[in-house]
Amino acid sequence: MTGQDLVVAEGLTKRYDVRGRGTLTAVDGVDLRIEKGTTLALVGESGCGKSTTGRLLLALERLSAGKVTIDGDSVHGLGKRELRALRRKMQPVFQDPYDSINGRMTVEQIIAEPLRVHGFAGDLAGKVGELLDAVNLASALARRFPHELSGGQRQRVAIARAIALDPEFIVCDEPVSALDVSVQAQVVNLLRGLQAERGLTYLFISHDLALVRYLAQRTAVMYLGRIVEEGPTALVFADPRHPYTQLLLAAAPRPRVRARDKVAATVRSMGELPSPLSKPSGCAFSSRCPLATDRCREETPALRVLPDGRAAACHYAETAQVGAA
Ligand SMILES: Nc1ncnc2c1ncn2[C@@H]1O[C@H](COP(=O)(O)OP(=O)(O)OP(=O)(O)O)[C@@H](O)[C@H]1O
Ligand SMILES: [Mg+2]
Repeated sequence: MTGQDLVVAEGLTKRYDVRGRGTLTAVDGVDLRIEKGTTLALVGESGCGKSTTGRLLLALERLSAGKVTIDGDSVHGLGKRELRALRRKMQPVFQDPYDSINGRMTVEQIIAEPLRVHGFAGDLAGKVGELLDAVNLASALARRFPHELSGGQRQRVAIARAIALDPEFIVCDEPVSALDVSVQAQVVNLLRGLQAERGLTYLFISHDLALVRYLAQRTAVMYLGRIVEEGPTALVFADPRHPYTQLLLAAAPRPRVRARDKVAATVRSMGELPSPLSKPSGCAFSSRCPLATDRCREETPALRVLPDGRAAACHYAETAQVGAA
């Protein structure tokens, strides 16, 4: 890695107690590094732990074990004041803008709120105007309410709010999957433009593999709470080495089908996803993997770095090839 890693997660673990059913390990010892100014995509089927990982990186949830640092500073276990100071550096953009904006506030109030909370001393209206401009929204929208805006405009407001305090790191959790396809590209290009102008670092969570390929320098693939493959996006997409990644990418490109449905269909063909409450022994993917051997069912494969620099958690990563349909 040439540049400097802004975000480093080590042994990231999140367990939930599910009443009467035991402990659900949603994130299970995840290591991640995101180089400053770049995008790491996080992909994998529904329920594998992507959003939980994003929330843990932002300290929106408590860790069960592990460590997260941003710019070398630990993100968890801080007092209120320290955490507030650190929050300036890292922000979320969610799928549904209503998760991060208050529907009863005007656009101006929504964007100004984080500035107020952090004691911004300058010209607030002027600053809001600059931020609207940065996300390509007309200043006339400042007095509107979220319900008066289109979905794309609302997501732009959420992005303006997220960048208000000049953060370094943004977790984008399916930021365009709720938008019309025609609007998605505009919002994606806005995110890309802001990254280039401001040197932002992104974790980009998405079911849309075409988008991931377009946006992310590196891609991490998650299965039942663990990273099963990670590396430069071009390498992972051109020659996936984990059977799960191979099956995930085998989804036939059908542009009219929503990406989430596409992934769901391919994944259904692999058979039932095991419950995170009762993961198979050995490799967690062994119950669905067409190449699984006795060794896979007994011995959990470590995520290991291959000679080409990408990492894969498969005993047979060098040779694995599932039906290239
Ligand atoms: N607060 C919670 N209490 C109990 N279990 C939870 C909680 N939050 C998440 N989980 C479980 O943790 C696992 C991971 O959930 P998560 O939302 O991170 O998945 P995801 O990869 O973001 O899925 P999706 O693609 O559907 O958004 C799931 O099994 C989920 O049911
Ligand atoms: Mg999610």
